[in-house]
Amino acid sequence: MRIAGSVALVTGAGRGLGRAFAHALLERGAKTVYAAARNPSAVTEPGVVPVRLDITDHGRIAEVAGECRDVSLLVNNAGVMEMSPLIGAATLDGARLEMETNYLGTLAMCRAFAPVLAANGGGAIVNMLSVVSWFTNPVNGSYSASKAAEWSMTNGVRIELARQGTLVVGVNAGFIDTEMAAELAGDAPKTSPADVARQVFDAVEAGQVEVLADGRTRRIKSLLPQDHEEIYPAVQAAWDANHP
Ligand SMILES: NC(=O)c1ccc[n+]([C@@H]2O[C@H](COP(=O)([O-])OP(=O)(O)OC[C@H]3O[C@@H](n4cnc5c(N)ncnc54)[C@H](OP(=O)(O)O)[C@@H]3O)[C@@H](O)[C@H]2O)c1
Repeated sequence: MRIAGSVALVTGAGRGLGRAFAHALLERGAKTVYAAARNPSAVTEPGVVPVRLDITDHGRIAEVAGECRDVSLLVNNAGVMEMSPLIGAATLDGARLEMETNYLGTLAMCRAFAPVLAANGGGAIVNMLSVVSWFTNPVNGSYSASKAAEWSMTNGVRIELARQGTLVVGVNAGFIDTEMAAELAGDAPKTSPADVARQVFDAVEAGQVEVLADGRTRRIKSLLPQDHEEIYPAVQAAWDANHP
């Protein structure tokens, strides 16, 4: 689909990658960019239309889908990462919040906007996944599980919406230079939010279903058939080194 002249809605658009998505959409000539955020006063990108939206509030999702009936490009960017291990976390609260947000919140957005996109000629959905959709980093194991669920969901939504002509793009990425990666990434290389946004909207315009945003993500995907030989030994070694 063409971005120029389109009407887009970006979740989590107040900061980080979401803000870069909104900026890039305007630069590419989108007619309207709804910048959805839990706190719309945090949306400072000039030219966008702020919309109040918490993607765990399913009633509000339905209202926004009713109000923004001209959307042809839905960018599901909002997400949380609680740095919560699977066994070591004191409670299930982090795991639950990540599933409610990253998996169920994104799925609820896809469900609410599917008829809107159909009415507007098909359009596209972008789901912001992660390299940890494909392997579990135990440091944030419950986030990895939520991103694996979101990846699985994205592939199913693509099949269900193919007949209405909706392109469904899954975006897998390693570290991106935002608040989310600040603590975890240390000195590891990070992709700039603007570069991720460029790759994503190039893919939308080219009709591609997947974006692998960096070399680490491309490498991890290529190693999946040998994950227990090529991926998990290093993950175990890093975990053991930090938990003597
Ligand atoms: N940074 C990375 O290294 C990295 C790598 C791969 C994938 N990702 C994914 O990229 C996406 C964007 O993350 P980021 O790096 O920009 O992280 P970030 O700086 O922490 O921003 C997260 C965004 O999600 C919003 N959000 C969280 N919960 C929400 C909810 N319930 N409803 C609506 N908005 C909500 C936040 O809004 P508030 O301002 O209200 O908190 C914020 O705008 C996420 O899906 C993340 O999982 C990030």
